Amino acid sequence: MNRMAGEFWLEKWLISASIISRMSMVQAQHLHKAFGRFVAVKDASFNIEKGEIIGFLGPNGAGKTTTLKMLTGYLPPSAGTASIAGYDITDNPIEARRHIGYMPENVPLYDDMRVYEFLDYRARLKGICGRSVRQQVVRAIERCGLEVKRRSLIRTLSKGYRQRVGLADALLGEPDLLILDEPTNGLDPNQIRQIRELIHELSENHTVILSTHILSEVEMICNKVIIIDQGVIKAADTPENLTTSLRAAGRVTVEFKGALEPAMEALASIEAIKKVIHEASFDDGWHSLTLRAEPGTDTRERAATIIAELGYPLRHIYRHVPTLEDVFVEMTRRD
Ligand SMILES: Nc1ncnc2c1ncn2[C@@H]1O[C@H](COP(=O)(O)OP(=O)(O)O)[C@@H](O)[C@H]1O
Ligand SMILES: [Mg+2]
Repeated sequence: MNRMAGEFWLEKWLISASIISRMSMVQAQHLHKAFGRFVAVKDASFNIEKGEIIGFLGPNGAGKTTTLKMLTGYLPPSAGTASIAGYDITDNPIEARRHIGYMPENVPLYDDMRVYEFLDYRARLKGICGRSVRQQVVRAIERCGLEVKRRSLIRTLSKGYRQRVGLADALLGEPDLLILDEPTNGLDPNQIRQIRELIHELSENHTVILSTHILSEVEMICNKVIIIDQGVIKAADTPENLTTSLRAAGRVTVEFKGALEPAMEALASIEAIKKVIHEASFDDGWHSLTLRAEPGTDTRERAATIIAELGYPLRHIYRHVPTLEDVFVEMTRRD
């Protein structure tokens, strides 16, 4: 390669590298947090791209809040680092925080303030000034459906409205990234649905990290899941990839009537099938088998054909489709 071409490729590489780093909203590298001798988060590394809606999923005590507090700069990591929109949380905390709207687990509100007063006060604290204060407060109130409550004392609000005030607060400053720590915690099903819809709307203009221990929440609104357990990141992927890669993926249950051995042998010869397991045999001559296949394969048609070729009746054939719950259980179980 001549020198000109070499320079051309180097330049191209640099441009694409800078595009990649610009798209990455959060880069966590080996984040670690110890409280005394107890390690709450161990060596957590993950990437979040612009526009993603991340479900940060883990059982109680898994280390979700601790991780989010490190990202927002409220808790210094014991080791490791993270950057938000390219700004390092330790070297450039003010710039990094400017890109974040944070809704903590227990939204701290001033009970004796009215909703608009509180948001006005919070906007000024965040360094918003002049005419922007009013504009942003009005917009946040609008977006969170708080118009009817704008003059209410915070102390008189229901939990659902308090969460909305917390969300409105997080929106002030128009941050790129919303970090919401268990935003639906303690709400009734109706309020949960409303907050979920609101988050879904907000995700059109923001990158969102939503921590939760509720699976259905993630399934409904997130396009990527990070699973954390006992301080360790167990997986980070789309729900679809997580479910197809699971051990249970591709498993097929078959029930037929006939001789057991020839059927098991014939089924084992199907290419994608790794193992044929005899589950049960019944007095009336029926047998139940489980076919363990490669994840992502569907062996039902081949299996049904083989049973038909043997001349055996088939009364049940079923492919197990793992849910996110299966993934969660598999990643966080203690045995
Ligand atoms: N300030 C602290 N001092 C000591 N231990 C803490 C502190 N904060 C959190 N922990 C512990 O760290 C673990 C993770 O907590 P947390 O991040 O709040 O979990 P999650 O948000 O997933 O429920 C828990 O065992 C918790 O008791
Ligand atoms: Mg928490």
